[in-house]
Amino acid sequence: MSMPFLWGAATSAHQVEGANEANDWYDWETAAGSPCVEPCGSACDHLHRYPSDIALLADLGLNSYRFSIEWSRIEPEPGRFSRRWLEHYRAMTERCRRCGLEPIVTFHHFTNPRWIDSWEDPDTAKRFERFAAVVAEALGEQIAAAITINEPNMPALLGYEEGLFPPGKRDRGARMRASEVFIDAHRRATATLRQAIPGTPVGLALAMADWQALPGGEDERDEIRRLREDIFLAATLGDDFVGVNTYTRHRIGPQGWLGNEPGVELTAAGYEFWPNALEGTLRRAAELTSGRPLIVTESGIATDDDQRRVAYIDGAIDAMRRVQSDGIDVRGFFYWSALDNFEWHHGFSQRFGLIGVDRATQRRTVKPSALHLGAIAKAAQFSPNTLRSSADDAEPPPAERRAS
Ligand code: FCB
Repeated sequence: MSMPFLWGAATSAHQVEGANEANDWYDWETAAGSPCVEPCGSACDHLHRYPSDIALLADLGLNSYRFSIEWSRIEPEPGRFSRRWLEHYRAMTERCRRCGLEPIVTFHHFTNPRWIDSWEDPDTAKRFERFAAVVAEALGEQIAAAITINEPNMPALLGYEEGLFPPGKRDRGARMRASEVFIDAHRRATATLRQAIPGTPVGLALAMADWQALPGGEDERDEIRRLREDIFLAATLGDDFVGVNTYTRHRIGPQGWLGNEPGVELTAAGYEFWPNALEGTLRRAAELTSGRPLIVTESGIATDDDQRRVAYIDGAIDAMRRVQSDGIDVRGFFYWSALDNFEWHHGFSQRFGLIGVDRATQRRTVKPSALHLGAIAKAAQFSPNTLRSSADDAEPPPAERRAS
């Protein structure tokens, strides 16, 4: 199977759906002493408004929508799968297709059913694999490309070493154990998805930054990058694509992270406005995966000045085109995010959306940046790039060989 170059926007279930109360994030947001500034609540009510939200994205001229499946809805208790919620997500994929959008489905985007004990437990990988199999069976060929796990490196770091995500641990050993279980889960789910939906490309999405070493900072930079990125890139061996999520750069000196450079513009998320970071991360992802197809599965900016979002989009797409012109195989660009949404422990104050959301009325406002990205997508629609699954690369069966 093949697809056009993907121009899209991304969301994740917990950040937009609302009324998600059976996962670990709900407990984390509502716990006493939580680092979260506010709970997610009704979020963007995407649960009910997905049909019109998807139509809005299609009207912009995009050809793809990346969203995630909420594991705690599908499997509220171990081994009990909800037919109703499987149908809900199947309806989302069908809605995408009817609107002309390729549905790119993420199976895990940070949240876990409350009954999952820990990502340090090797059995969690097996439970995730079982969930992935059930979803693949229900959604089947509706899925245009599957992302097993979004940024396994982030919950491993923020949840097990930095205490900001659930389960709130601060332990390097726990982080490394969780990283291993995430990698195992990715491998298992990939094998399962390949069997269940053989023509569908499967990969993971990794959080990558452009880590820039100042003189003397090279060893420190390499060590940070090894634990954050390299061990996960190594785990993508044999995948159909690698999803790259990139937001900024970081400067590293001999003593570690140097913080923002004075004078550089900051985004509303507090880090540097640096759309060009994507050039470094795409080059590195290609280098470490021997040229595997890449998809920009997330890039974006939190800002209340939509003109800066337009500038960010232009800068990021320029960076992507530079690496493409050097022969690096990039198959899609997804802006994060489709909607202003729940930005984890930062709450709703960081607005990444192409589409604004008034949380009192749930009214949507299409921002100029959304029209801008849509115009780029429309202009580029005749790009010859396609995304193939591993099945395309397999030897054709003898009958086909004879015919060709
Ligand atoms: C990424 C996450 C996504 C969102 C953006 C801003 O790390 O995948 O959910 O929070 O950052």
